[in-house]
Amino acid sequence: MAENVSRRIFLKVAGTSVAGVGATVAPVGSAMAAADNRAQIQAAAGMAVLPYPKAAIGKSRAMQANTPVSFNYPDAESPCVAIKMGQRIPGGVGPDGDIVAYSSLCTHMGCPLMYDPASRSFKCPCHYSMFDPEKSGQMICGQATEDLPQIQLSYDAATDTVHAVAVAGLIYGRQANLL
Ligand code: FES
Repeated sequence: MAENVSRRIFLKVAGTSVAGVGATVAPVGSAMAAADNRAQIQAAAGMAVLPYPKAAIGKSRAMQANTPVSFNYPDAESPCVAIKMGQRIPGGVGPDGDIVAYSSLCTHMGCPLMYDPASRSFKCPCHYSMFDPEKSGQMICGQATEDLPQIQLSYDAATDTVHAVAVAGLIYGRQANLL
């Protein structure tokens, strides 16, 4: 009984928040909107919302096109990869709007993903899921059912530095991205 009540309350709070947010946030599907939605839902449900750290990934000029750059975010236990795709893509940052980043843990069972430059996709060696970095980490095929969590980036033109500033999507194996 208590569980049913709690579930109803949660669904009511979450549903109200999603509807309210949907009226004010666009475009749907963008990494930033997803993170904003999540934060507002958590806040409405009375959950603590911790701020993400801002962490430098590197200089845009130092990144080679179609070549992964590894880093950890939002903490040392969360491996991620940034890639300069070499062409402007939605959500990309940097002088050419072509740099994106993702958690590199497969959303199926958490295996470390490999970036394949030839197919310009992430591939999982465990059960062969594939993800598209040019389409917000969208799952292409395989056992996974969730897209890759996208790392939100900012770019400081004065210093040519790319920063990670948030995560859109739940990192594999976690109940919250910030533990
Ligand atoms: S862990 Fe990646 S597809 Fe299963």
